[in-house]
Amino acid sequence: MQKIATVLIATSLIVLPSLVLAKPLEANTLENGKQNYQRLCLSCHGELGHGDGIAGQALSEQPSNIYQGLNSWFESEAELIDTVLNGNEEMPAWGNLLNEQQVKEIFTYIEYVNKD
Ligand code: HEC
Repeated sequence: MQKIATVLIATSLIVLPSLVLAKPLEANTLENGKQNYQRLCLSCHGELGHGDGIAGQALSEQPSNIYQGLNSWFESEAELIDTVLNGNEEMPAWGNLLNEQQVKEIFTYIEYVNKD
């Protein structure tokens, strides 16, 4: 009986915290993605990532529709992350400010705001 109690307590110590932590972690991803997106990307890529930001209109090349890119058969997430970290033509490189995880958080945010 004591053994079972010990096992139960041990299990709840492991399982309960992960249940409690699951939600806030997800919210954090969105919040981090939102903050970085609005701070670093929105000016060119626009509110929803469609490439219609105000600063983007001054460029010789129109910023891409990030949402479309994320849902395109022709581009992988890895390629898009590479473009963000290393830049491409008029797209600045963000590798000094963001890591891969943070870029993924931004993509999660873009997917989120484009769902109705
Ligand atoms: C100075 C304006 C500017 C800013 C700021 C900017 N971008 Fe871009 N971005 C561009 C332009 C222009 C392109 C198109 C470049 C090209 O031809 O690949 C682009 C392309 C991209 C692409 C490639 C899309 C595809 O389908 O190939 C992604 C992804 C992207 N940007 C994400 C971001 C993210 C994330 C940020 C913020 C960290 C950001 N951009 C900030 C101008 C900008």
